[in-house]
Amino acid sequence: MSDNDRKVSFGFRDVPENEKSRLVGRVFSNVAQRYDIMNDLMSFGVHRLWKDALIDWLSPSPGAQLLDVAGGTGDIAFRFLDKLGSKASASRATVCDINPDMVSIGVERARQRGLSTRVAFTCGDAQHLPFPGESFDAYTIAFGIRNVTNIDQALTEAFRVLKPGGRFLCLEFSKVDNPILERLYDMWSFNVIPAIGHAITNDRNAYEYLVESIRRFPPQKPFADMITAAGFSQVKWRDLTSGIVAMHSGWKF
Ligand SMILES: C[S@@+](CC[C@H](N)C(=O)[O-])C[C@H]1O[C@@H](n2cnc3c(N)ncnc32)[C@H](O)[C@@H]1O
Repeated sequence: MSDNDRKVSFGFRDVPENEKSRLVGRVFSNVAQRYDIMNDLMSFGVHRLWKDALIDWLSPSPGAQLLDVAGGTGDIAFRFLDKLGSKASASRATVCDINPDMVSIGVERARQRGLSTRVAFTCGDAQHLPFPGESFDAYTIAFGIRNVTNIDQALTEAFRVLKPGGRFLCLEFSKVDNPILERLYDMWSFNVIPAIGHAITNDRNAYEYLVESIRRFPPQKPFADMITAAGFSQVKWRDLTSGIVAMHSGWKF
């Protein structure tokens, strides 16, 4: 079967495998300027607490080198450096994201925070990371992996670029474990989020895609199995907000 014949999900649609990355690129280029404000509006600011929880679980050591893949406008990298504080000046964060429009917002935010010397932004694909093997102590990916065409390939790359003893942490929308909350969440996601997206970014389709892609992403256990299959050990997850979001952790030994 050629790449043109193989289909992958793009929201609720199935599209040729070699089309997905272009479609995802268009979504994030269209929303980049308003991406951060949209996150606050869609989640009532709760995405900030979820990202804090990821960095708390990572609990980085002074000197740690972080790679934040699909890092967009830099939220995870900034939190990582804030957590370590100015004493851990040897720690660096590298943000790698496929979309130059998201990256350029991140570069400007780092400049405004005085962090330009401690965060490097690179354009690159999670499936073919532009870094040598065994380069980083920690790999994070927040709300990024469901956008990647071949998730197994991205996990294999995560394993390759981590040093032995390195940590993988993923923050992603997941399966809600409470039926009442699930109904409310569905109503909010399918009715309100696309309407807010339309009002703020003039792109309803982008936010329909984001909501649909969440429903197509594997639930907690199957995703943990994929992480294990990529070579990681001691794979665990923690639900946040009743499973609206889950954090998955694994170690490279
Ligand atoms: C929902 S945003 C998350 C941004 C950031 N991590 C955050 O939590 O705010 C998803 C990001 O994934 C990026 N992305 C999508 N496919 C990618 C790929 N194959 N490789 C690297 N980044 C990718 C997009 O460009 C976008 O910036």
